[in-house]
Amino acid sequence: STPSVVVVGAVNVDLVVTAPRLPRPGETVVGPAVGRHGGGKGANAAVAAARAGAHVRYVGAVGDDDFGRDALAELRAEGIGVADVAVRPGVATGVALIVVDESGENQIAVGAGANDRVTAGDVRAAIEAALPDLGCVLVSTEIPAAAVRAAVEIAAGEGIPCVLNPAPVTPVVADLLKYGPLLTPNAGELATLSEAVRNERPLGADVQVQARGLSEHTGAAVVVTLGGDGVLVVAPDSATEHLPPRPATVRDTTGAGDTFNGVLAARLAAGEALVPAVRVANAAAALSVAAVGARDGMPDEPAIRAALDSV
Ligand code: RIB
Ligand code: NA
Repeated sequence: STPSVVVVGAVNVDLVVTAPRLPRPGETVVGPAVGRHGGGKGANAAVAAARAGAHVRYVGAVGDDDFGRDALAELRAEGIGVADVAVRPGVATGVALIVVDESGENQIAVGAGANDRVTAGDVRAAIEAALPDLGCVLVSTEIPAAAVRAAVEIAAGEGIPCVLNPAPVTPVVADLLKYGPLLTPNAGELATLSEAVRNERPLGADVQVQARGLSEHTGAAVVVTLGGDGVLVVAPDSATEHLPPRPATVRDTTGAGDTFNGVLAARLAAGEALVPAVRVANAAAALSVAAVGARDGMPDEPAIRAALDSV
C-alpha cells in the first residue's frame, strides 16, 4: 500500500490582493481585485503531498464557520483525510491577508483563529491512527508549541521520519532539535536557528557553515530552501550538495516552501533517498510559483515528472 504522510500545521483562508508593489507602513496600495484561496502552511503542504501521490492525513483545526467548512471541502477534494481536523465552536477559521507585488514577492499577516486550538491530543490521535503504514510526519509551526512538540516527539518515539519546517521559528523548535528532525529552513530561519546552537560554536553568516553547524547539532539533515538560489542539502557524513534553482515563471511565491515540504515528505515516505527527493521537491516548488494562490500552480506527479524530464 502507498505509505502515508501525516501533515500537522495551520489551515487558513487566504485573501490575496495583487498590487504593483507592497505597501509601506501606513500606506495603501490598490490592486484590481481580491482573490480567495486555500492556505495555511500545513494544509498547503498536505495538498502538495497528495498531488505528488502520497496518501495524506491532515491534522489541524478550523472554526465552526463557512470558511472552515470550505477549507475542509477543498482538502477532501484533493483526496486528503480530514477526520483528524478539529472543529472548534466559537472561534474563527484562520485567515491570511496577503499582498503580492509584480515581482511575485509577498507580505502576509495571519489571524490564527482556530489554528491556536490544535492540541497535542489531536496530533497523537492522528499519528496513532496512521501508524500501520505511516512513512513520514511533516510539521510546521503556525500552531501551538504543544502540538508541534507532540508531532516531533511521537514521530521520534515511533521511529518515523519527521520533517520539521521551522516556519516561523518559534521557541519550541530549539527544544526539539535533540530529536533530530530533518529541518527545512529558509535562509532567514536558518540564521535564527543558528543562534540557538551558537553557544557551542560561532557560526557566522555563511549559509553553508550555519547549515553544517545545525546538522552537526541535530545529527540529521538540514535542507535550506534559497528561493531563486536553489536548495542546499547538508547531511551528516556526506558532502554538502547544492541543487541549482529550476527555471520558473514567478507570479506568486506564496506557498512555494509549503509545496517543497509537502513533496519532500511524500517522496521520503515513499522511501526515496534525501537528495533525489529534494530534487523532485525543488522542481515542484518552481512550478508552484507560476500561478497566484498558494495551491494554484502546485503540480501533480505527472507534471513534476514532465518538468524534470524536460530540463
Ligand atoms: O506559506 C504560505 C501560507 O502562509 C499562506 O497560505 C498563508 O495562509 C500563511 O499561512
Ligand atoms: Na502558486
